[in-house]
Amino acid sequence: MHMKKWLLKDAQEWEGRYLMRTYKRKPVMFVRGEGAYLWDTEGKRYTDFVSGLGAVVAGHAHPDIAAAVADQATRLVQVSNLYYTEPQLHLARWLVEKTFADRVFFCNSGAEANEGALKLARKYFRTVKNEERPDVICALGSFHGRTLATLKATGQPERWGPFEPLPQGFVHVPFNDLPALEDAVTERTCAVLLEPIQGEAGVKPASPEYLIGARRLCDRKGILLMLDEVQTGMGRTGALFAHQHYAVMPDIMSTAKGLANGLPIGAVLATEQVSAAFAPGDHGTTFGGGPVPCVAALATLEALTSGGLIHNAASAGECFRRRLSELQAKLPVITEVRGMGLMLALQLEAPIAEDVALGCLERGLVINDIGLHILRFLPPLLIGQEQIDELITALEELLEGAHAG
Ligand SMILES: Cc1ncc(COP(=O)(O)O)c(C=O)c1O
Repeated sequence: MHMKKWLLKDAQEWEGRYLMRTYKRKPVMFVRGEGAYLWDTEGKRYTDFVSGLGAVVAGHAHPDIAAAVADQATRLVQVSNLYYTEPQLHLARWLVEKTFADRVFFCNSGAEANEGALKLARKYFRTVKNEERPDVICALGSFHGRTLATLKATGQPERWGPFEPLPQGFVHVPFNDLPALEDAVTERTCAVLLEPIQGEAGVKPASPEYLIGARRLCDRKGILLMLDEVQTGMGRTGALFAHQHYAVMPDIMSTAKGLANGLPIGAVLATEQVSAAFAPGDHGTTFGGGPVPCVAALATLEALTSGGLIHNAASAGECFRRRLSELQAKLPVITEVRGMGLMLALQLEAPIAEDVALGCLERGLVINDIGLHILRFLPPLLIGQEQIDELITALEELLEGAHAG
């Protein structure tokens, strides 16, 4: 690779010339990370409250994960799923032993995990139950990915138009509305697909009554509960998976993001009964479950559990939430504090989220704005008191200033 000293304006110029215009990027180019910190091309340090959109759960350049990846990269990177590889088998066993699931399918991203989950639910009814039930009920406001089927599952109809025709068989109902969910179930329904906390919608948790009610409804109707834990999984909410807070077990679950601390991987987890639907040839991928992301995932799981990071997500998350609530008491522009563990958001009365996020960036703090009214925080799970305090001080000044201005 040609090495040059990059300036931000060079990156912006190259983007203008060579990249498709799919992203609205913030004006910064990162070159290095360590723990909760990132550094830009000028050597300026930032505290990261986005962690690669919730992926870098164990922090940047985690030494054990980096060592596992480097070691694996020198031995074996890719043979495809025509053959056995050791890291994939260990990872599958770990996930089965620690979750509701009996079997796992590995892929490369969250959208792919949801695609696999949707195919599994449909095939389960066609081949195991011998019933024609293709429809999946999803929630409005949800986000499940950007492939054609997961875009249609995503409960944001305004995003569908340019890509029609999209796959059929998706029904949408208001989130956290149990009667609406009950009304939507028909003899063609195979599954209900929900995020325990809607992430891209701005961190909106399912109420316990809703998730527990959805589980009971699925049991009563003999249909599947599918949980999308792409964003809420891997310790983010203070439990390995968010559904554990609710004491609700899904039949199928998708996860991705934090699974390999930022390397691309996704997984579909399911019970034995449902997994039985997949036979050789039904589903597959060239790269999914490759040795490098799988050793990264094993080292990530070690850091989350033995390394105490899930525990820190719960305790630091509680402290972070309390500090945000104190801010809300002082600043009327904050209308709501939402979230669980280290998946948190502020709802703002005024359309200042982007300005505040840019103000934070100038001060060396990376936070995420969703639309004009929501700020989201997804730090690495090792974030500490001092870093949270630093953010709260900046937020107080910026929210006061932006609102007054
Ligand atoms: C809940 C949820 N599902 C699915 C996805 C899609 O994941 P990916 O971007 O890895 O395809 C995301 C990504 O933000 C997500 O938050």
